[in-house]
Amino acid sequence: MRILLDKFSKSFGAVKVIEDMTLEIKDGEMLALLGPSGCGKSTTLFAICGIHKVTGGRIYFGDRDMTDLPSQERNVGVVFQSYALYPHMNVAENIAFPLRIRNLPGAEIKRLVDEMADLVHIGNLLDRRPAELSGGQQQRVALARALVRRPNVLLLDEPLANLDAKLRLEMRSEIRRIQLETGITAILVTHDQVEAMSMCDRIAIMNAGQIIQIATPKEMYRNPRTTFVAGFLGNPPIAFVEAEARDGMLAVKNADIRLPVPPDAVTPPDGTPVIIGIRPENLGPEGDAIIRGRVSFIETQGRENLYDIKLENGSVLRSIQRVRDDISLDDEVEWRVRSDRLFVFAENGERL
Ligand SMILES: Nc1ncnc2c1ncn2[C@@H]1O[C@H](COP(=O)(O)OP(=O)(O)OP(=O)(O)O)[C@@H](O)[C@H]1O
Ligand SMILES: [Mg+2]
Repeated sequence: MRILLDKFSKSFGAVKVIEDMTLEIKDGEMLALLGPSGCGKSTTLFAICGIHKVTGGRIYFGDRDMTDLPSQERNVGVVFQSYALYPHMNVAENIAFPLRIRNLPGAEIKRLVDEMADLVHIGNLLDRRPAELSGGQQQRVALARALVRRPNVLLLDEPLANLDAKLRLEMRSEIRRIQLETGITAILVTHDQVEAMSMCDRIAIMNAGQIIQIATPKEMYRNPRTTFVAGFLGNPPIAFVEAEARDGMLAVKNADIRLPVPPDAVTPPDGTPVIIGIRPENLGPEGDAIIRGRVSFIETQGRENLYDIKLENGSVLRSIQRVRDDISLDDEVEWRVRSDRLFVFAENGERL
């Protein structure tokens, strides 16, 4: 089911949280709403499921205007960070709950509960109470309960935040598998870029109540529109240095480093201040542009090391490379970067 937010706005009293947001989620797509704490992700989700009344704009499911319908008439499945299972009911009763309140016949309820339990792989746990389940198992029950009514859309608000690292990894692929198997249109709210990139077809990146960019994970990583987007995706994160256009090149401020303008960027007029973004995987032994600096920190990550390179001007770039025994702390190095992997931004953060 396609979802369309058409110039959606939401205020709490005098505080405008979302203003004129237009966003389309395609039928069968899983879209991540990604952004820092307080940017309005949950507010957007609550408006879609009908918990919040909108202040302005319309919300459509397919061609149907849902804006004024109460939550229970929108047929949405919701999973929150706290699974909110009913503690006194067992797993089967928890999953069956949305069907019971609809007065479905008992045999039909049992069939649907078994089907859902199979889908989320908890068929052997139906008699247990929530307290007798692990976090990941509880999350599966919450998913089954959200999906059992065959909702039009599935809304997930930080569903993995309460799980430990290993379970989070497992549930990431599980939720994606279930979404693909059911073909349900889904929105995942998260502030974790890895979750957004690994689970979703597209990412809408938000800041301060606005959508900054919508793209596939790959496209957004390769082609960030602003410094904010470039800085939000990637771990370890991209590093930025200040520079100035000079003789068709980019001269790093207060350092003897000149970088070529990447082929896809417009050469700015001489004297234009710019910000250059360099991802850690693109700084190392290979490339057509030279960067000199001093190794100021080495972090061992197992297969690879993270090297901090301090430039003459004090800025720090990061380089991620296979472990090198020929490099030690405080070494002066002359490393390289591929100019076609550089990002150049104007002073206001917009990509050139
Ligand atoms: N019921 C409310 N009344 C007043 N202000 C609210 C209410 N709900 C949210 N806000 C404000 O709206 C803004 C956006 O909140 P929201 O919960 O949507 O953020 P979020 O992106 O989900 O953040 P987080 O990642 O921390 O969950 C915040 O500044 C918050 O304080
Ligand atoms: Mg939130």
